[in-house]
Amino acid sequence: MADILFLSDDEFEGYRKLIYTESGIHFTQTNRSILEGRLKERLRQSGIQTAKLYLNKISGNKDEMKVFLDAITTNLTRFFRNQPHFDAMEYFVLPEILALKKPAGDFTVRIWSAGCSTGEEPYTIAMLLSEKLPSNFKFEIVASDLSLKCLMTAKEGFYDKTRVVGIPDTYLKKYFDHSESGYRVKDVLRARIRFDYHNLKNASPWKNFDVVFCRNVLIYFDEAAQTTVVNHFWDSMTSKSFLYIGHSESLFGMNTKFEFVKTKWTTLYKKWI
Ligand SMILES: C[S@@+](CC[C@H](N)C(=O)[O-])C[C@H]1O[C@@H](n2cnc3c(N)ncnc32)[C@H](O)[C@@H]1O
Repeated sequence: MADILFLSDDEFEGYRKLIYTESGIHFTQTNRSILEGRLKERLRQSGIQTAKLYLNKISGNKDEMKVFLDAITTNLTRFFRNQPHFDAMEYFVLPEILALKKPAGDFTVRIWSAGCSTGEEPYTIAMLLSEKLPSNFKFEIVASDLSLKCLMTAKEGFYDKTRVVGIPDTYLKKYFDHSESGYRVKDVLRARIRFDYHNLKNASPWKNFDVVFCRNVLIYFDEAAQTTVVNHFWDSMTSKSFLYIGHSESLFGMNTKFEFVKTKWTTLYKKWI
């Protein structure tokens, strides 16, 4: 198996190009070892002997390509990740949106968690909106990812105790059922989120979002792929809406129509036409 640890430069180039074309995820020489490590694990699981054979297999097999992309993604996430984003949601974004919607007689807030990983982000948003939206408003959340494994965990909504740190105690009691093995999101909250497979490289099948969260996802793409993804968001958002990206990510210099917004809590972007 030693040969599969070391991709030849040609093989690396073959994988790199295919991954980029299929997902926008951009591997460089700097993170080549991450790809090699994850590929090695996938080869072990699939019983395929060489990286070359596997490259041929995924090139012509859409299902295996999905499994492979799943295997190479980074899925790190947590509940209430970057609290200032949620403070800005409560004290800035929601008041702005509600002030526009009320006179228009629209009482539904629509959110997309794009690149939702194992669900912590959309469940955080769902808890926040359940608590903070006025009672005459309702909300809808779509949560999507490329990783089928992550989506399964997200739909299941079951987390062990090490993963629920960061959730305020009152929310944990109210929105989770506790058992010896861990914490399960209550059905009433799970029912508020629609989890779906979506590759951000493709145009969004959904429209009319008031807020899009795409945090810590763009970092894996190069600028061309980032621009494509962000412009897809533009098309899927209402004429007055907000976009969150990760705190280490930026749209600076990118060819998009989003406007930069600086709030007391954090920075974000808006579509305002
Ligand atoms: C690091 S996680 C971020 C999770 C969450 N948004 C957060 O900030 O905690 C990045 C997620 O983006 C997903 N992802 C990467 N490329 C994608 C693509 N082309 N389409 C959809 N999801 C993608 C990965 O599967 C992964 O679950």
